[in-house]
Amino acid sequence: MNDEPKEPLLLDHEADGIKELDNLLPRWWVWLFYATIIFSVFYLLHYHVFKFGDLQITEYEKEWKKGEAIKAAAVAQFESTMGALQPSQDAAGLDQGREIFGKMCAPCHRPDGGGLVGPNLCDDYWIHGSNYVDSVKTILTGVPDKGMLTWRGVLKPNEIQCVASFIYTLRGTKPLNPKPPENQPQPQKPSEFE
Ligand code: HEC
Repeated sequence: MNDEPKEPLLLDHEADGIKELDNLLPRWWVWLFYATIIFSVFYLLHYHVFKFGDLQITEYEKEWKKGEAIKAAAVAQFESTMGALQPSQDAAGLDQGREIFGKMCAPCHRPDGGGLVGPNLCDDYWIHGSNYVDSVKTILTGVPDKGMLTWRGVLKPNEIQCVASFIYTLRGTKPLNPKPPENQPQPQKPSEFE
């Protein structure tokens, strides 16, 4: 390469008066070019011959598995905190729950919880489970097919906690003219939330 001419070289061919100048490539560019060739040899050996490195699809699958594990852990943690949820005993919270119930739920469940469009919430007959956590889940997700609204996103989490705690206090009360039972009795396990 050192014996290459210093001046740009005019090549001795032309087409319709267009000539070609053989400019020298900058040194750094040429070395970079050689470097990529050397790199490609190592790349080929590393990824394709000895298979030390993961190809994109394997990398993607590994990342995906990691993501799934994070998701599963988060869901498991959420479920475990759901299990530990307790109805609030706090008077202010229960008052807030009563207020929300009066506004949002009473049209279908009646102010005393005796049931109208929605079922009686005072008896031992439950469609979606009788304990506190079951109620929280029903309120969060609703039963859209059966006319029970979804309250996730409508009520804040602490409002759901308040209203679920309030209806928990309705259990065992005797409203006038309650709606008849709509399912087999499912007495709540008294020991569960003592
Ligand atoms: C538009 C009418 C309507 C409104 C408003 C409504 N519900 Fe319901 N709710 C229902 C119906 C209907 C069901 C029965 C669903 C079924 O048959 O699966 C139900 C079921 C329930 C259940 C489960 C009962 C069981 O037997 O398992 C709970 C708990 C409940 N509602 C709480 C609430 C709370 C708390 C609110 C207010 C935040 C509320 N609901 C607002 C109609 C309503």
